[in-house]
Amino acid sequence: MIRASVANQKGGVGKTALSCHQGLSLAEQGFKVLFIDNDPQGNSSYTLQKNSMTTLAPFKTIQLYESTPLPDFQPETPITLVAADRSLSKVARFETEAPFIFREHLDKLGDKFDYCVMDNPPTLGLGLIASLVSSDFVYSPIEIEDYSISGLEQLQQTIAGVKSRHNPNLKYLGMIPNRMNTRDNRQKEKLKKLLQHFSDKIIKAPVVQRSSISEALGKGLPIWEMQKERSAAKQATEEIRAALDFIESQMGVKKQTEEA
Ligand SMILES: Nc1ncnc2c1ncn2[C@@H]1O[C@H](COP(=O)(O)OP(=O)(O)OP(=O)(O)O)[C@@H](O)[C@H]1O
Ligand SMILES: [Mg+2]
Repeated sequence: MIRASVANQKGGVGKTALSCHQGLSLAEQGFKVLFIDNDPQGNSSYTLQKNSMTTLAPFKTIQLYESTPLPDFQPETPITLVAADRSLSKVARFETEAPFIFREHLDKLGDKFDYCVMDNPPTLGLGLIASLVSSDFVYSPIEIEDYSISGLEQLQQTIAGVKSRHNPNLKYLGMIPNRMNTRDNRQKEKLKKLLQHFSDKIIKAPVVQRSSISEALGKGLPIWEMQKERSAAKQATEEIRAALDFIESQMGVKKQTEEA
């Protein structure tokens, strides 16, 4: 089971939007996906539960932090969702070994799934550490509008720290500019500055702000299933597909057409 974390300690940048789309994309390609909602806000649980490709795991995310063995089960649909609710916020007060308990649970779940996608909370706490110590890959959606270079540097330091201390396999895939406003020249200038500062860490597949994306997530659908309803959804689909294509190629995901 190859594992990806979506991480940024800033709220509202698109972690849930991108992680849900990645989970749905992998599932549509025929892979068995374990999706972990690691955020007490439960936003990806809300979205994915509405999708017919999803069934709930017989345990909640908080149980991944506890040493009690998990109930056995077999995946029934392409996506198995480990759902979260407010009670997950207790994790912040757990002992420092909790991330390693989380990793052990994932190791045991590994032979049931091809991929694991983890949506994370907007904090640099124990929950994010658990996700990072357990992942092969991590990427970060960012919002250009009010990014702070120091905030993004802090995130890089957290990722680098986990990599050197606990998980040498962890690979940082980079940052995806999201919720872009193409008409805003200030944003273009800011993006230029970001490119200078972080150079190859910016993924060159930006996603523009389009209401069809939040509408789709509200309905539990990926944006490409909204195409018939809205023409703007077509452009949003192309952008999200381009971002996911980059991520998936870095993760070594073999497209079905490539296998044939
Ligand atoms: N490209 C986009 N265009 C329009 N709306 C978007 C886009 N990306 C995300 N959104 C919407 O913006 C809001 C914030 O996005 P999202 O929930 O994915 O961010 P987040 O990083 O997960 O936030 P949090 O840290 O609070 O969990 C949501 O309502 C989402 O539907
Ligand atoms: Mg979220």
